[in-house]
This record gives sequence, structure tokens and C-alpha cells, in this order.
Amino acid sequence: MDRIRIRGGNALNGTIPISGAKNAALPLMIASLLTDDTLTLENVPHLADVEQLIRILGNHGVDYTVSGKRLATQATSGRTIHFTARTIVDTTAPYELVSKMRASFWVIGPLLARCHKARVSLPGGCAIGTRPVDLFIDGLKVLGATIDIDAGYIVAEAKGGLVGNRYTFPKVSVGATHVLMMAASLAKGQTVIENAAREPEVADLAACLNAMGAKISGAGTSTITIDGVTALSGARHRVLPDRIETGTYAMAVAMTGGDVTLEGTHSDLLQTALTALGDAGAEITDTPNGLRVVRNGNGIRPVDVVTDPFPGFPTDLQAQFMALMTRSDGVSHITETIFENRFMHVQELARLGAKISLSGQMARVEGVPRLVGAPVMATDLRASVSLVIAGLVAEGETVVNRVYHLDRGFERLEEKLGACGAEVERISG
Ligand code: UD1
Repeated sequence: MDRIRIRGGNALNGTIPISGAKNAALPLMIASLLTDDTLTLENVPHLADVEQLIRILGNHGVDYTVSGKRLATQATSGRTIHFTARTIVDTTAPYELVSKMRASFWVIGPLLARCHKARVSLPGGCAIGTRPVDLFIDGLKVLGATIDIDAGYIVAEAKGGLVGNRYTFPKVSVGATHVLMMAASLAKGQTVIENAAREPEVADLAACLNAMGAKISGAGTSTITIDGVTALSGARHRVLPDRIETGTYAMAVAMTGGDVTLEGTHSDLLQTALTALGDAGAEITDTPNGLRVVRNGNGIRPVDVVTDPFPGFPTDLQAQFMALMTRSDGVSHITETIFENRFMHVQELARLGAKISLSGQMARVEGVPRLVGAPVMATDLRASVSLVIAGLVAEGETVVNRVYHLDRGFERLEEKLGACGAEVERISG
């Protein structure tokens, strides 16, 4: 199993290209199930989760080809991949595949819309919480599906097709919003989704679906209206920049000090997180090339944050912000409201000398003047990168084990940080 070794102490200076967003690429790839035509996605990041979803979609009958070289020759350009689901050969998504990646459960929406039936394994437990699927089930039932649970599978059917309706989510869910939007695109009549997720990835999926011929308005706000159409066609769509990768590197620069331009991204995607970073002492400006993050000289100020659905502070940046706060000049409080078990990085940060105490959903972080390198364990995707951020300022050597978590969501991390002066290397095997 690969590990990442970091020697802390270097400031970051230079340019980091920001990849296409993993959390947009996954639902966009799944949308290819909705048409027998070719969906071409540009700027697809090279990540383990993308490869895994390609395998899962292949199981349903999606063929894919990659334009040009498999690996982009430049770190700045993601791949262009063509997805074609000429015929759906299997409407079952088996446990062996769904349990490896929760987002693959989302195939239930397009399969039900196009084939009027789907048999999809329940995703099962997940390291960061129980993550139920009740909202997906309720929403699809409102569109006329019958849903049974059989031996760990959700068996969904819509004889004669889905029918548009009005549905108000009792709780904001990114995944359930994606699924309902995809399903309603091919339903008869109009669907109105209230209390929809407002994440930029939802608006990106809607833009792609509209390019495929769907009639969706309001995506990016909490009310989305979808007028169903009888068929969707192919389209070409560019995946938007990854706001979590953007925020992660911005926090890394705030941590080490330095001056880095995050190429190809912009502040609108993560304003709340950038405001918190600004309060902590970083200077952030939009430039024609991307987002410039600078911190020179001054210490890191303590800042309290509470995670919330977009446009609030993203839960996917909570661990990274906590890493930054471990070196602040005072006490900060970080509250997690989205997932009930998303503090696994606390124990690992403590191994580097951080002072953090937990009380329910709130972490109290007392800044310390120094962190000291140690071997640590990656526990989930975002937690693992928080350990890298801490390692960048820890004295001596930090070795992050189980980096396969990191590879699910961060493309060429060691290369990107290394190019800006960090001493980071991957140890294979
Ligand atoms: C997506 C992101 C993930 C991010 C999360 C929250 C992708 C691939 N993943 O995950 O990185 O951390 O949004 O921003 O885009 N819930 C229910 N019932 C349901 C569905 C969800 O109770 O049927 C709960 C979840 O347990 C959680 C909350 O709703 O507490 C939000 O989850 P959701 O927005 O659905 O997260 P994902 O779409 O899985």
C-alpha cells in the first residue's frame, strides 16, 4: 500500500492547477445512462473514484473511449472521455460494486427513468456516518415508482414510466437532488423539487442535462423545475473546477505561508470557506489565471466554523480547516452538522501534537506553536488530506499511511505540492 512522506517546514510558492471536480464528474458520468447517444465530458479528473465508476457503468452497458493519450500530458488538462450507453444490458447494480463507492447508488435514477426498473444494492455503512437512502426512496416514490427492499437490494419499478410531481426534501441532500433531477428529466409532465441542494455540482449536472435536451430551470437555487421530455440526446460538457481541491490547497498555503495561484478556479465556488480563511489571516484574490492565496509573516488567527449545505461551509473542508486551526494563536470551535462521525482525523492530528477535544458535534481546537512529524493513518478521503496539511508544517517527517483514500479524490497531490516547494513524496508498495 502506498504511503506519502512529508518533510515539513517549507512555504508554498508557485502555481497549482485545479482539476475538474470529482463530485461533478461522478453524477455527470452517471447521466450518460439516460441516452443511447454519446455524452462527451471534458476536464475529467484522473482519480480512483472515476476509474471505479467507469467499471460500474460498464456493467450496465456503458462503453467509453478516452480522447488522445490516456493520461493528460499536462497536469492542467483533465481527460476528455466519451460515454455511450447504446443499450442498457443490466439494470442491477450489485453489492460488490455499490459498496465500493456510495455515489454509484445514484444509477437508480437514470435506470428507472430509461428502463422503468432498477435493482440497486443498498450502499451499506460508511466511515463518516450511517448515510441512509430514505430521501432517494421517498422522492422516487413521489414520481410514481414502487419500491421494495429485497435481500439488501432496492427493487424499483415504474410501469409505464415515471410521472412528474412536486417533492419537498425534508433535509438537503446532494445525491438525492442529483438523482431526482435525472429521473424527472425523462418523466411525464412537470416535477418541482423544493429544498433542493444548491451545490455548484447540482447546477453543473443541470447544465449538462439541458445540453442533452432536458428542460430544467432553477438548479443552484432551492427550487428546481423540470419539464420531462421523451428522450435525451448526446452532448459535450466541461466538468467545473473542484472547489474542495481549491479549498484544500488554499488551506495548505494559509498553513505554510507563501504565495500560490490556484489555476483555473474562482472564489464563487467556495465563498464561505474563503471568508473563514481570510479571517484566519490569508489574503485571497480572484485573478484572470485563478485564485491567488497569500499569507506572509503574520500568525494564524482562530476562527469558528459550522458546516452546512452550500452556500455554507462545506463538510468536505472541515478536516482541512481543523488542521489549519491546530496552529492558530488561540482557541477555535469547529461544528460538524452534516455527518455524525466525521471527526476521525482528530486522533491522527493529535499524534502530531494537536490539542483537540470533542464534545458531541463540536471540536474545540487549541492552537499550538509547533507540530511534530509522526506516522499517521488516513481514515477517509478528506481526513487524509488534512494530515498532509498538518505534515507540511510539522517538524521532521510525517508519513501518511493508507493513501488510497487520498487517491480517490486528489489528483497528483504530491506533484502539485512538490512543484510549489513542499517536500512530499510517494512511497510505493
Ligand atoms: C455529497 C458529496 C460528499 C459531501 C456531501 C455533503 C458526492 C459524490 N459526494 O455526498 O463529498 O460530503 O455531499 O456535502 O458528491 N441523508 C439522509 N437520507 C438520504 C440521503 C442523505 O438522511 O437519503 C443525509 C446524510 O446522511 C447526510 C446528509 O443527508 O447527513 C447530507 O448527505 P448528502 O448531501 O446526501 O451527501 P452525498 O450526496 O452522499
